[in-house]
Amino acid sequence: MKKNSIFPALLILLSVFASAVWASEAEDNYKNFCWQCHGMTGNGMGVNVQDMSVQPRDHTSAKSMGGRSDADLFKVIKEGGLAIDKSVLMPPWGGTFSDEEIHDLVTYLRKLCQCR
Ligand code: HEC
Repeated sequence: MKKNSIFPALLILLSVFASAVWASEAEDNYKNFCWQCHGMTGNGMGVNVQDMSVQPRDHTSAKSMGGRSDADLFKVIKEGGLAIDKSVLMPPWGGTFSDEEIHDLVTYLRKLCQCR
């Protein structure tokens, strides 16, 4: 390996590391705050579901998640269900997460549904 070729290699390593940390942070947030309703795997089968009049969204369904823009997802997470004419049972998270963390949650949701 040539002496100066180590820097790009280091950069790649660093960014792989950074994205691994980032991914697990959004996943952790989801598994701490969203699973009760949306389920551990995001399939909408959380423990609260049997008592709820409106069922939480199945976040793994490309069919129901594909119709939403990132901006809508951001808005509903930050401001709650009512913000996009959905149920008040979806709570607002703007007081819990920073905008950046909400963006990361949106990215995580896209990973769950494997849709745009
Ligand atoms: C107390 C239960 C509850 C918790 C906790 C909860 N949700 Fe929800 N969520 C709902 C319900 C119910 C709906 C469906 C609302 C509707 O269809 O009218 C919903 C809908 C959504 C939607 C809209 C999907 C769509 O397009 O219709 C998103 C996005 C979402 N939740 C993300 C999250 C995230 C991210 C968290 C954690 C930070 C979370 N939710 C925590 C109950 C919950």
